[in-house]
Amino acid sequence: MSQPKGYSATQVVLHWAVFALIALQFLLNDAIGAAYRAVMRGQTPEFGVLVLQHVAGGVLILALVIWRMVLKVRRGAPLPPAHEPPILQKVATGTHLALYLFTIVTVLSGGLAWFGGFAAAGTAHEIFKTVLLVLIGLHVVGALYQKFVLKSDVMTRMLRPE
Ligand code: HEM
Ligand code: HEM
Repeated sequence: MSQPKGYSATQVVLHWAVFALIALQFLLNDAIGAAYRAVMRGQTPEFGVLVLQHVAGGVLILALVIWRMVLKVRRGAPLPPAHEPPILQKVATGTHLALYLFTIVTVLSGGLAWFGGFAAAGTAHEIFKTVLLVLIGLHVVGALYQKFVLKSDVMTRMLRPE
């Protein structure tokens, strides 16, 4: 993997687009939850636009995350900020990896629950989205710690492409 000075414009736009789409999945899930419970009870659910939004939004997230991973392998990512304690570097790298992983398994488990009708996949989806939420929380705390305590350029480089 190469070591560019910053993230490309595409990487920055994709990061914030995926953030916005994941936020929507967390904010708008009542309709899919109700529809899923109806299907599992053998009833005919209401397939409104919000059900479509959750399914299509999740599929779009998966596509964009795969695109991000391809870019990361091809182009690489900037080095951790100088003077950052090695333990923090490891936590940040591990969190990034886990964010990619749990985004993917959240989408896949949702797909298996919805299209396959597997109750276990529905339970897995609930667990995975909770882990994802915790990871996002850790990631945001890390970003704010970099900006306000370590005063590094990490936040800037996810806002200004290089
Ligand atoms: C990163 C992407 C996704 C996130 C963050 C996400 C998040 C959520 C959340 C927060 C809930 C509410 C769970 C609860 O009531 O406790 C939910 C429910 C659900 N989602 Fe997703 N979702 C994603 C992708 C998908 C996809 C792609 C599908 C289907 C193709 C899907 C299908 C479902 C179903 C069937 C439920 C109801 C499951 C249940 O209540 O047990 N999700 N999702
Ligand atoms: C759904 C929410 C989010 C997800 C899934 C996510 C995921 C990621 C991932 C996977 C990376 C690593 C990029 C790479 O090297 O390939 C990253 C970087 C970054 N994210 Fe997020 N992010 C989210 C939200 C946020 C938010 C809300 C902030 C700011 C408060 C933020 C700030 C950053 C920064 C500053 C970097 C660059 C880190 C560095 O260069 O070492 N992210 N994000």
